[in-house]
Amino acid sequence: MNLCFAMLVPETYASAEKGKVIFEENCVECHGERGDGRGAVGPYLEEQRPADLLAEKTRARSNKELFEIIQYGVHFEMPGWEGVLSDQEIVNVVKYLRALASASLPAGE
Ligand code: HEC
Repeated sequence: MNLCFAMLVPETYASAEKGKVIFEENCVECHGERGDGRGAVGPYLEEQRPADLLAEKTRARSNKELFEIIQYGVHFEMPGWEGVLSDQEIVNVVKYLRALASASLPAGE
């Protein structure tokens, strides 16, 4: 059991690291470097501000939900990434979002 865990963790880190690169290339302009929704483009979007990806609402979503949001988009201001990012790349981005969200929690939580 412990062995499996030790083997899985580095793999998760590696995926999150790949997800970071994808996030920086495709998502930062709207969602901001920290994922808090304060990217440079946000204020210019007319209808809907980019979501704060660290918020409780987003944290509470399942991996599947996040995957589908990223795949299909939400609103016309949040484009779908199907055909741009591969399924594996979307999985990596979801892992990176989890890493960002847990890094933003106050110590002790
Ligand atoms: C052009 C700006 C833009 C880009 C680029 C963009 N987003 Fe978004 N995103 C938005 C907006 C605006 C919303 C809020 C949509 C709504 O709630 O109507 C959103 C919502 C989301 C949500 C849903 C949050 C929630 O819990 O409701 C996720 C997850 C998300 N974006 C992830 C990403 C990822 C990952 C990328 C990069 C692959 C990305 N976004 C790129 C604008 C953008």
